[in-house]
Amino acid sequence: KLNNKSVELGDGTKKGTRVKVYGRIHHLRPQKHTTFIILKDGYGLLQCVLPAGDLTKTYDALMFAQETALVLYGELRSVPAGQEAPDNRELLVDYYKVLGQAPSDLDAITNKVSKEQDPWDAQMLDSRHLVLRGENASAVLKLREAVELAFIDSYREMEFRKVSPPAMVQTQVEGGSTLFKYDYYGEEAYLTQSSQLYLETVVQSLGNVYCIEKSFRAEKSLTRRHLSEYTHIEGELDFIEFEDLLEHIEELISRVVDKVLADPAAASYMKLLNPGFQKPSRPFLRMKYADAIEWLNKQDPPILNEEGNPHVFGDDIAEAAERRMTDIINRPIFLTHFPVEIKAFYMKKDPSDPRVTESVDVLMPGVGEIVGGSMRMDDYDELIEAYKKNGIGYEPYYWYTDQRKYGSSPHGGYGLGLERFLAWMGNQHTVRTCSLYPRFMGRCKP
Ligand code: 4AD
Ligand code: MG
Repeated sequence: KLNNKSVELGDGTKKGTRVKVYGRIHHLRPQKHTTFIILKDGYGLLQCVLPAGDLTKTYDALMFAQETALVLYGELRSVPAGQEAPDNRELLVDYYKVLGQAPSDLDAITNKVSKEQDPWDAQMLDSRHLVLRGENASAVLKLREAVELAFIDSYREMEFRKVSPPAMVQTQVEGGSTLFKYDYYGEEAYLTQSSQLYLETVVQSLGNVYCIEKSFRAEKSLTRRHLSEYTHIEGELDFIEFEDLLEHIEELISRVVDKVLADPAAASYMKLLNPGFQKPSRPFLRMKYADAIEWLNKQDPPILNEEGNPHVFGDDIAEAAERRMTDIINRPIFLTHFPVEIKAFYMKKDPSDPRVTESVDVLMPGVGEIVGGSMRMDDYDELIEAYKKNGIGYEPYYWYTDQRKYGSSPHGGYGLGLERFLAWMGNQHTVRTCSLYPRFMGRCKP
């Protein structure tokens, strides 16, 4: 299917009618008697056949190159038996006009998946505006839209209400070291790291809520799964227990996967990007942090911590160890009950073991953590203690603390990185190809 606007003459849906189509050259194959063009627009591909003779001998035709913009007229017909073309049809061109020429230097940029997938290739990053024209790069972004819509549909079905918390804030959520600070009319302010604290203040009035907003992290390391600006899908549920939270996250991910696979267009992008994809079986594997530490040490050879030693209780499970683990286990993992010391100030402690929190990271093969969530500390005094312990001045948080004063409730929620979810579903080596124009340390263009 090409853009509706492209088919203006006659009824373009009937084979054998004369049509006018606009598009750009995706692929060019000159032969002795015929030139084949695969034309593309944002909607699809169309094979165009230019017969030998006057039509291909013009000056214009000599200038044909990948990305040249054209308008073509001709007869639309089914391809002869034994030949292959997109949607089994082709345009027999009898007239065309070049609308915008293109230099023939794009070969090195579009559809070079290996380079496009190299997260360190500066040429590809500088040329992102042209890389996007490639079949793979554009399929990732089309899949991204389908995934985002599937989240919205799933939340509607589950009766979650969508809200839009502010991006300009004066509180941190996930630690001061990754805050982007700026001057707000003379006051210190930050770009939001997470909308969680705001979501927690609206469940009382709106019920279960979610948002799809940008979050910002001044990540000072370059990895293939960290961005400075990313799309954060966050949900908050009122009157729940930890187990309800885990079930909800599993249900949400499963619904989104089902919806994407059931959408014929999205399924075609999946076929191109991740043909081997299989919906994860339920229930997802659950593993406590303490058991994961033991598991890492039990591997042969043991998977070591960042200092090169066996893991001990209290260690962060670093990105590399986490990825080894997901690659070996090779299915989604709910990693739960992280120690208090390595998690954020707001997390509720496990009533049966106060060394750990009611927290969860969802780990996916190939990517690692795609979701972080927890139950929230709902006791006023405990929260005040937690501010102190974490060196957080609680004045700017008065509105967050108030939630524990006016009818506090057991509640919890999570955040999911859309780019990481997409890296998992769309089989991308890095989140950088899952963002339209990725931002990370050292890169704020194009
Ligand atoms: O684990 P995080 O930091 O959790 C929170 O922000 C919670 N306040 C969310 C909540 O409970 N509402 O981030 C959540 C998710 C991560 O699991 C990851 O998928 C993604 O956000 N994420 C990033 N994605 C890309 N680049 C980064 N720098 C990211 N940091 C986090
Ligand atoms: Mg996290």
